[in-house]
Amino acid sequence: LLLLLLLLLFLLLLLLHLAAPDRLVGGPLDCHKTCVCASNIVSCSKMNLSNVPTALPKYTAVLDLSFNSINKLRAEWTTVSLSKLHSLLLSNNGLTFLSSEAFIYVTKLRYLDLSSNGLRQLDEFIFEPLEQLEVLMLYNNRISQIDRSAFAGLNNLERLYLSQNQISRFPLELVKERSRLKALRLLDVSSNRIKAMPLDELQALPAWIKNGLYFHNNSLTCSCDLYDLVVRWQLKELSSAVDYKSSHTCVIPGRHQQKEKVAITDLDRMHLNCSEVKVRDKEAYLNRYLVLDCDTRQKDMEKRWVLPGNIPLSQENKTYEMLKDGTLRIGPLKAEDSGVYTCYASSDSLNETIYVTVVVFNSTLSGGLENIKTAYTTLAGCLVSVVMVLIYLYLTPCRCAGCPGQHSDKLASRDSLHSSSASLSKAQEPPGPERVESGGTLYRHVAFADPKDLLEQNGRLNPIGEEDEECLGERGERRRSDAGSVSSDTPMVV
Ligand SMILES: *[C@@H]1O[C@H](CO)[C@@H](O)[C@H](O)[C@H]1NC(C)=O
Ligand SMILES: *[C@@H]1O[C@H](CO)[C@@H](O)[C@H](O)[C@H]1NC(C)=O
Ligand SMILES: *[C@@H]1O[C@H](CO)[C@@H](O)[C@H](O)[C@H]1NC(C)=O
Ligand SMILES: *[C@@H]1O[C@H](CO)[C@@H](O)[C@H](O)[C@H]1NC(C)=O
Ligand SMILES: *[C@@H]1O[C@H](CO)[C@@H](O)[C@H](O)[C@H]1NC(C)=O
Ligand SMILES: *[C@@H]1O[C@H](CO)[C@@H](O)[C@H](O)[C@H]1NC(C)=O
Repeated sequence: LLLLLLLLLFLLLLLLHLAAPDRLVGGPLDCHKTCVCASNIVSCSKMNLSNVPTALPKYTAVLDLSFNSINKLRAEWTTVSLSKLHSLLLSNNGLTFLSSEAFIYVTKLRYLDLSSNGLRQLDEFIFEPLEQLEVLMLYNNRISQIDRSAFAGLNNLERLYLSQNQISRFPLELVKERSRLKALRLLDVSSNRIKAMPLDELQALPAWIKNGLYFHNNSLTCSCDLYDLVVRWQLKELSSAVDYKSSHTCVIPGRHQQKEKVAITDLDRMHLNCSEVKVRDKEAYLNRYLVLDCDTRQKDMEKRWVLPGNIPLSQENKTYEMLKDGTLRIGPLKAEDSGVYTCYASSDSLNETIYVTVVVFNSTLSGGLENIKTAYTTLAGCLVSVVMVLIYLYLTPCRCAGCPGQHSDKLASRDSLHSSSASLSKAQEPPGPERVESGGTLYRHVAFADPKDLLEQNGRLNPIGEEDEECLGERGERRRSDAGSVSSDTPMVV
């Protein structure tokens, strides 16, 4: 009996011993031994902490926990609202886990440093409570998967550092017009594994976004389009292209096993014989209107236009009108309107001068012809797509609506992209219509799956806009379903 009791005691001790280091929360804040507390700053850097101290004062504004071994940030790291906390430093912690509720009590954060950790993925809506966040440091992690809605709700985010990770897709949605983060002016995806950039979309962005769009030292495939973009950015003295001139490299396609990295700006002479980049003039025909953009490297600058021959803009002369967004509208054009227009832009930290050369052709005829041509092309395009839709509707052999195999395949693959746990439970359910009726799949998809996709499909984020106006019928529909299929095929993963 004694032996049994001893054994029990031993087991109890062992259990306690095992449980103790695995406690979910740390000890209370100690402002003498482990942390330095200076008014509203709490600094516990390099103290070998494995948990965040508890009972942090409510007035804490800066919490420095860098260089510790906090490898999980659980939801309960703080149970009180730290409404004064604006900076949280968690770099160099070996952090591999972020609870989806890690930030619900620190909604006033403006600066969050999660750099140099072991994070591998960013889940949906993980940063959503951080509406005030301005700077997010995520460099030097192992991030390869980013949910498309991971950065949703970060309406004040100005700078996002994602360099030195394992990202393989450029997150265009963060900068693209309709879905972009409104305040973002620096996005760093350098030193990742990106092979291709959406060059046309990037080129169409305003200069103040491109200025802070760092993408050097990836595994980009060399092409003359890439050369063209980088050279243009350098000519415009955009920081992202100028500051890391020598790190802008690409990989020559279709060579031997060992891939050759070359400087992008050498492509013209050494490898691909790309044509010289010329900054194009603005060209237009008589009696037309022309809008000149003052495309500055900084947002919200004070802008002023000067006409060719150094003539300042006057209020009375309606031929030249500066619009609210800083652009200059000229027209109806006359041959004498050709020349160099100058935009002087200034802000507290930068003065910029932008020259736009305008060439007015001495004819109206070509303009007219051009228009008729465009109309014909559009009409032809519409006819072709109508025919395609008819072929699709009537000539596709069997659409197999009741076919269980095809049906469930589609659903299952779609689902597995959104949530692996959901697809597990789904796989055990019998295929067929009753699955849909049970509502699990559909409900989950609608409720949490990917609101951005849904928004896009509903046309809120991606409403039928200028580019769709030419052919609204079948074409518009197809395009939208295309967008849907793209986002579910190349899913949330970056
Ligand atoms: C840090 O803490 C771990 C256990 O939490 C311990 O094994 C290790 O020796 C500590 N290192 C230092 C430098 O104190
Ligand atoms: C380029 O990226 C690789 C990893 O992708 C990194 O190891 C290397 O240090 C980077 N080089 C520079 C110059 O940043
Ligand atoms: C580069 O292309 C131009 C015209 O396309 C051609 O005249 C020239 O010979 C080419 N140079 C090389 C080195 O291939
Ligand atoms: C506007 O200015 C241009 C060039 O300065 C001049 O040729 C033109 O006659 C002016 N038009 C009016 C209506 O003042
Ligand atoms: C911009 O130009 C104005 C006047 O031309 C000058 O007073 C100001 O110092 C300049 N600002 C910068 C940042 O260079
Ligand atoms: C434009 O063309 C017309 C005839 O086509 C000619 O009379 C006029 O001189 C030309 N103007 C200029 C500026 O070349």
